[in-house]
Amino acid sequence: MTAPDPSFSCDPTLPGEPTPVWLAEPADAALDRPTGDATGDSAGESVGEPAPALTTDRTVDVCIVGAGIAGLSTALEVRERGKTVAVLERDRIAAGITGKSTAKLTSQHGAIYDYLRREFGRREAKQYAAVQEEAIDAVERRIEEFGIDCGFERQPSYLYGNDRDTIERETDAAELAGLPATFVTSVPPFERAQAAVRFDDQAWFHPRQYLLGIADVLQEDDGATVYEGTRVTDVESGTPCRVQTTSATVTAEQVVLATGFPILDRAGYFARMHPKRSYVLALRLDGEPPEGMYYRTGDNYRSVRTYRSTGGGKDGSNGGENDDSDSRGDGSNNGDSEDLLLVGGENHKTGQGGSTVERYRTLLEWARERFPVESVAYRWSNQDYKPVDKVPFVGRVGAGAQNVYVATGFRGWGMTNGVAAGQLLAALIDGRKPPERKLFDPMRLTPKASASKTITENVDAVSEFATDWLRTMLTPELRSLDPGEGTVIRRGGKPMACARDADGDLHATSAVCTHMYCLVEWNDAECSWDCPCHGSRFAPDGEVLQGPANEGLSSASIDGGVDVGDSAGAETGVSIDIDRSGVGSGSRSEEEDRGEGED
Ligand SMILES: Cc1cc2nc3c(=O)[nH]c(=O)nc-3n(C[C@H](O)[C@H](O)[C@H](O)COP(=O)(O)OP(=O)(O)OC[C@H]3O[C@@H](n4cnc5c(N)ncnc54)[C@H](O)[C@@H]3O)c2cc1C
Ligand code: FES
Repeated sequence: MTAPDPSFSCDPTLPGEPTPVWLAEPADAALDRPTGDATGDSAGESVGEPAPALTTDRTVDVCIVGAGIAGLSTALEVRERGKTVAVLERDRIAAGITGKSTAKLTSQHGAIYDYLRREFGRREAKQYAAVQEEAIDAVERRIEEFGIDCGFERQPSYLYGNDRDTIERETDAAELAGLPATFVTSVPPFERAQAAVRFDDQAWFHPRQYLLGIADVLQEDDGATVYEGTRVTDVESGTPCRVQTTSATVTAEQVVLATGFPILDRAGYFARMHPKRSYVLALRLDGEPPEGMYYRTGDNYRSVRTYRSTGGGKDGSNGGENDDSDSRGDGSNNGDSEDLLLVGGENHKTGQGGSTVERYRTLLEWARERFPVESVAYRWSNQDYKPVDKVPFVGRVGAGAQNVYVATGFRGWGMTNGVAAGQLLAALIDGRKPPERKLFDPMRLTPKASASKTITENVDAVSEFATDWLRTMLTPELRSLDPGEGTVIRRGGKPMACARDADGDLHATSAVCTHMYCLVEWNDAECSWDCPCHGSRFAPDGEVLQGPANEGLSSASIDGGVDVGDSAGAETGVSIDIDRSGVGSGSRSEEEDRGEGED
């Protein structure tokens, strides 16, 4: 499902290894594992002995789909309440969004608290703050309890910007919500910043090392199993539920979908949240990288933190009792200690916003203006999902799906939200009613601001749909493509997606997204076809990399035109089916125009 065509090597001029630092392979790691891929989305990047795949039918109390921070946190919480658990991961542990984050473990989620008190109320802002703070503490407790070496370090976190009013309001709202927030006017290393709100006692860690530690705890327990390389193809809700994988079936009283975008979207999540892609560079500096974590709000966010490759704290201690994490070959403690500066930003809606190669270049330029950059060690990008009202969806997946739960929509802040989701879901599955359940309820009535935002986001999808179809129908010629380039053309009256690989060979598929028939766009940094409507992504050969699409792009040949199968959108050519896309018409949102990111 996630392995794209390995013959694609995207833009060789971009500096740095195309892999997240968390999943980077040490030089002496075993060589018989899959190699990295062109899109940055394959588990091929991750190393370590894989957990077994599910091969025979099983019955458990709770089946969890997805082994990212949300899935494994839920598994641990549920198991601690005495229930048997199976975790099904199509790829490798933490190989999804979790392994491609900057892994700040913080309650500071952009300028969220002023927004929450305004749109939801003071009580809800307080609830949101409390569960995030508890999540940081919970991770620290787990690390101590299980002796996990994952570079956990308490650090202050700064939200900075030039709009002093915004920062003052956010400080006030955060303090009222019970957070350790202070207004400051000096923000080294960002001398030009006017003001910031500092949260004390936040943290950073290594997300994959942490989750491998949690997975070990689960695997050593007779009542829990984590399966890797096990893709779920269908979930039948009911009493009990049935979870179908490519090889076997799990029967469970309850199912949790912790798959990033929920697989099998039967409750219209695609219309209530949208994917934002972000870019990260891991930089070698001439000198020490700074202490603290930084997030610039306003136009085009920037996220900055230091990565210590020893996996230990500032003093070289490992933050836990276990000193032999090396033995897993998970990329940690490879003896080649090197501190790096992680710089993230340049976010945009998936499939929209032009060249992704340029985004890496802009980010590097920005970093060079502020830090003594020597070279780029790693680069990566990924997307997270932003609900229209900015609050994650955690709870029952939808009215029609009995005993199925979901955790999604973390808006770029899933490290604490994912851990908090685990606590909330385990309580709900246990029949308890924590007060914060209403705030995170996926079926909540949206507050005042989000109804219009829902419309605007869906309008954007329709607008992309119409413009792209029209443009493609007017683009009959296959312009010359260099290796690593792709374009959508009209062939035989149908839109065809064509891309050239590193050997000069041309690859063609249908350009019609199998989700709701928008036309895909070429992502030149990741060598993938990305859908501008709801963010599905496909490999150059059409295979699905990220949902909501469940099916790959139809095959096509340059000579023979596009084989579009029975896809309704393709059959109807340029007609725009507004009802099917569940959206209206109009212009893009103010926030999007400002280029504002995850805050
Ligand atoms: C560039 C970037 C930087 C970020 N930085 C931060 C940060 O500093 N702090 C922070 O709090 N948040 C950050 N985030 C957000 C955070 O990474 C995410 O919110 C979080 O990792 C989501 O976790 P998850 O468990 O929901 O999803 P994932 O980690 O994606 O886990 C879902 C898992 O489900 C599996 N799966 C999917 N479909 C199936 C299937 N059919 N069958 C079986 N398994 C399946 C996937 O392979 C995947 O492993 C960042 C995000 C990005 C993109
Ligand atoms: S992701 Fe919805 S149409 Fe492509």
